[in-house]
Amino acid sequence: MKRILITGATGNIGSEILRYLYKQGTRNKIIAGVRSIDRAKQELNAFNELEYVSFDIENPDTFKNVLNNVDTLFLLRPPQISDINRYFIPLIDAMNEARIREVVFLSVQGAEKSSIIPHNKIEKLILNSGIDYIFLRPGYFMQNLTTFLYPDIQKKRRIILPAGQAKFNWVDVENIGEAAATVLEEFDRYRNQIFEITGPENIKFAEVVRRINAITGAGIVFESADPLKYFRLKTNEGMVKGMAMVMIMLHFLPRFQKEPRISGAYEILTRNQPATIEKFIEREKLKFV
Ligand SMILES: NC(=O)c1ccc[n+]([C@@H]2O[C@H](COP(=O)([O-])OP(=O)(O)OC[C@H]3O[C@@H](n4cnc5c(N)ncnc54)[C@H](OP(=O)(O)O)[C@@H]3O)[C@@H](O)[C@H]2O)c1
Repeated sequence: MKRILITGATGNIGSEILRYLYKQGTRNKIIAGVRSIDRAKQELNAFNELEYVSFDIENPDTFKNVLNNVDTLFLLRPPQISDINRYFIPLIDAMNEARIREVVFLSVQGAEKSSIIPHNKIEKLILNSGIDYIFLRPGYFMQNLTTFLYPDIQKKRRIILPAGQAKFNWVDVENIGEAAATVLEEFDRYRNQIFEITGPENIKFAEVVRRINAITGAGIVFESADPLKYFRLKTNEGMVKGMAMVMIMLHFLPRFQKEPRISGAYEILTRNQPATIEKFIEREKLKFV
């Protein structure tokens, strides 16, 4: 039996990983590393056997006791963290001190192509650490529509991004959680490999919005803003500057890059077919109307 620590357990990906680990009947001890144990216990109350520990990437004092008792770490970069050296160098040093030999890191598709992407820096730190790794590089989450893009969809009936005509690979977070649970359970089999977890299709925002409207009748519009306008708009609305920059990188740079690759990794890992955007829209229909 291994002890597997899940960081970001209360988030989109982490909670799906927990769901699939227990659905797959894990025999390992699963531990959620969370900033607030009380809040996490409420949010994750469906998972009776889950153990909780205090873990905050921004507070190295929380690392030692937690990491000393872990075999495998699922590592996620919390979206607000852009200063990778400041937070991830101490964490990876602490992992080495605690003799953790296995890490599954949630990266992003295309991370290897650009050294300014935070995940690229984290992948390099892990590779240089000598710790065995599995990198999952997912495409663009379908759930972005129901999380950070949702306030604009709900209140303004629009999506505004500097994305232009760029096509994104839309992938269901449920599929990423399932793939992550699979590699966590079978680390030996997939050790030191990299998997791009993609959905079946590359689609531009205008087309996604057209499909949402066709399925739900929601009447949403897509507006492509230039990066400066987007930066001013979102920081005026309260988005922190680092986060606005990450959003611009994620949505503006693809305009100048090749379309994302569609990989078969999810099918290979799980023997299932990845969800289509239509399936996701149907499932979340009530949120759009
Ligand atoms: N969105 C996309 O299309 C996309 C595509 C590819 C990759 N990604 C990557 O996916 C990751 C985000 O995953 P997600 O959507 O599951 O995130 P999320 O839903 O925003 O959840 C973030 C998680 O991180 C935890 N967290 C926040 N600050 C923390 C800290 N200082 N220390 C420890 N834990 C902390 C949060 O826990 P509490 O708040 O409960 O403490 C929460 O569980 C990012 O690295 C992003 O770049 C995203």
